[in-house]
Amino acid sequence: MDRIRIVGGNKLNGTIPISGAKNAALPLMIAGLLSEQTLILDNVPRLADVAQLQRILGNHGVDITSVGKRPGDHQYQGQTLHISATDIIDTTAPYELVSRMRASFWVIAPLLARMHEAKVSLPGGCAIGTRPVDLLIMALEKLGADIAIDGGYVIAKAPGGLKGADIEFPKVTVSGTHVALMAATLAKGTTVITNAACEPEISDVADCLNKMGARISGAGTTRIVVEGVAKLHGARHTVLPDRIETGTYAMAVAMTGGDVQLSGARPELLQSALDVLTKAGADITVNNDGIRVARNGAGIGPVTVSTAPFPGFPTDLQAQLMALMACASGASQITETIFENRFMHVQELARFGARIRLDGETATIDGIARLRGAPVMATDLRASVSLVIAGLAAEGETMVNRVYHLDRGFERLEEKLSACGASIQRISD
Ligand code: UD1
Repeated sequence: MDRIRIVGGNKLNGTIPISGAKNAALPLMIAGLLSEQTLILDNVPRLADVAQLQRILGNHGVDITSVGKRPGDHQYQGQTLHISATDIIDTTAPYELVSRMRASFWVIAPLLARMHEAKVSLPGGCAIGTRPVDLLIMALEKLGADIAIDGGYVIAKAPGGLKGADIEFPKVTVSGTHVALMAATLAKGTTVITNAACEPEISDVADCLNKMGARISGAGTTRIVVEGVAKLHGARHTVLPDRIETGTYAMAVAMTGGDVQLSGARPELLQSALDVLTKAGADITVNNDGIRVARNGAGIGPVTVSTAPFPGFPTDLQAQLMALMACASGASQITETIFENRFMHVQELARFGARIRLDGETATIDGIARLRGAPVMATDLRASVSLVIAGLAAEGETMVNRVYHLDRGFERLEEKLSACGASIQRISD
C-alpha cells in the first residue's frame, strides 16, 4: 500500500492549479443516467472516486469515454467525460461497488426517475459517524416511490413514475437535496424542496440539469422548485473548481509560510474559510487568476470556529484547520456540528505533538511553537490531508500510511505540493 513521505519545514512558493470539484463531479456523472443522450462533462478531476463511479455507471450499461489531454492543455487540465446512458441494462447497484463510496448510493434517484425501479446497496464511504440515508428515502417516498429494505439493499419502485411533491428536510442534507433534485426533474408536476442544502455543488448540478432541459429554480437557496419534464436531453457542462482543495492548500500555505497562487480558485465558494484564515493572520488576495495566499514573518493567531452548512465554515475543512491551529499562538476552539465522530484525526495530530482536548463536539487546541514529524495513519479523506499539511510544517520526517483515502479526493497532491517547494514523495511498496 502506498505511503507518503514528507520532510517538513519548507515554505510553499509558486502556483497550484485547482482541480474540478469531486463533490460536484460525482453527482454530475450520476445525473448522466437521467438522459438517453450524451452528457459531456469538462474539468472532471482524476480521482479514485471518479474511476470507481465510472465502474458503477458501467454496470448499469452507461458508456463513458474519457478524453485525455489535447494539444495546448496543461498537465493538470481535468479530463472530459462523455457519458451516454442510452440503454440502462441493469437497475441494481451491487454491494461490492456501492460499499466503497457513499455518493454512489445516489444513483437510486435517476434510476427510479427514469426506469421507475432501482435496487441499490446501502452505502459505505468514509467512516465518519453513522451517515444514514433515511432522509433520502423520505424524499423518494414523498415523490411516490414504494421503498423496502431487504438484505442490505434499498428496493425502490414507482410503477407509474414519480409525482411532484413538497419535500421539507428536517435538517440540511447535501445528499438528500441532490437525490430529491435529480428525482424531481422527471416527476410529473411540481416539486418544492424546502430547507434545501445551498452548497455550490448543488447549484452546479442544477445548472447542468437545466442545460439538459430540466426546469429548476432556486438552487443555491433553501427553497428549490422543480417543474417535472418528460425527458432530459444531452448537454455539455464544466465542473466548478474544488473549494475544499482550494481551502486545503490555503491552509497549507498559512501553516508553512510562503506565497502561493491558487489558480482557477473561486473565492465566493469558500468565503467563510478565507475569512477565518485572514483572521488567523494569512494574507489573502483575490485576483483574475484565482486566490493568492501568503504568510511571511508573522505567526498564526488562534480562532474559534463552528462548522455549518454552506455558506458557513465547511466540515470538510475542519481537520485541516485543526492542523493549522496546532501551531497557533494560543488556544483555539473548533466545534463540529455536521458529523458526529469526525475527530479521528485528533489522535493522529497528537503524534506530531499537537495539544488537543475533546469535549463532545468541541476540540480545544493549545497551539505549540513547532510540530515534530511522526509516522501517522490516514483515517478518512479530509483527515488524511490534515496529516499531510501538519507534516509539511513539522520538523523532520513524517510518513503518512494508508494514503488511498487521499487519492479518493486530491488529484496529484504530491506533484502540486512539490512543485511549490515541499519535500514530499509517494512510496509504493
Ligand atoms: C456531502 C459531501 C461531504 C460533506 C457533507 C457536508 C459529497 C459527495 N459529500 O456528504 O464531503 O462533508 O456533504 O457538507 O458531496 N443525514 C441524515 N440522514 C440522511 C442524510 C444525512 O441524518 O438521510 C445527516 C448526516 O448523518 C450528517 C448530515 O445529515 O450528519 C449532513 O449529511 P449530508 O449533508 O447529507 O452529507 P453527504 O451528502 O453525505
